[in-house]
Amino acid sequence: MIVTIDGPAGAGKSTIAKLLAEKIGFLYVDTGAMYRALTLKIIRYGIAFSDTQAIVSLAKKTVIQLQKNDGTQQTKVMLDGNDVSEDIRHPEITNAVFNIAGMPEIRRIMVQWQRGYGKAGNIVMEGRDIGTVVFPHAEKKFYLDATPPVRAQRRFRELEEKGVGIGLDEVVRQIKDRDYKDMTRTCGPLKKADDAVYIDSTRRQISEVVDTLLTYLDNEKVI
Ligand code: CDP
Repeated sequence: MIVTIDGPAGAGKSTIAKLLAEKIGFLYVDTGAMYRALTLKIIRYGIAFSDTQAIVSLAKKTVIQLQKNDGTQQTKVMLDGNDVSEDIRHPEITNAVFNIAGMPEIRRIMVQWQRGYGKAGNIVMEGRDIGTVVFPHAEKKFYLDATPPVRAQRRFRELEEKGVGIGLDEVVRQIKDRDYKDMTRTCGPLKKADDAVYIDSTRRQISEVVDTLLTYLDNEKVI
């Protein structure tokens, strides 16, 4: 069974998808981490984002693995065998991902990798185009949303906890900019699938949202 969760930054996708996967014993797949890991590699190799050919050839020689970190709720992101879980969350990466997220050749490669996880069995996969492009026939689809100020506030708090010195105004600006880029790109834009359940997390606790998602899942299939 495949469960997809799409939505904009700060809607709570990662936290909720992770908790849901744990509750139902499914594998959790964070596709944003894959785009982030490739972006990190491109920057480390000093390749220009305008050099599509070099980027595609680099991507083809790249191995990105998402590993469950035993005993914790964390998933380790491995780039060519090295743990980059922390590095990929850096604001420099967050603001650069759009460069490759709009490249059809790269999206094709990513979609292929992501479909590979589906063959492994039961998964909860989150991202932007999972219910629309990666798994259009998934059994359960969700679109998780929240108002832009609440999403920015959440992201601001996360960054503050990590000690990243960035003002709320700047986070609001970055979230708006990323929403626009994610929603307006031609290939694999962020969009609610017609058959996805729309969930607004603006005024709801994480546990409430997870419980809501659980009510939509067919228990017989899940257990
Ligand atoms: O965690 P956050 O919501 O900040 O972002 P993310 O899920 O880690 O994704 C980072 C960026 O990767 C997004 O802003 C998208 O541009 C891109 N992305 C994508 O294009 N397609 C996906 N399936 C997942 C992420």
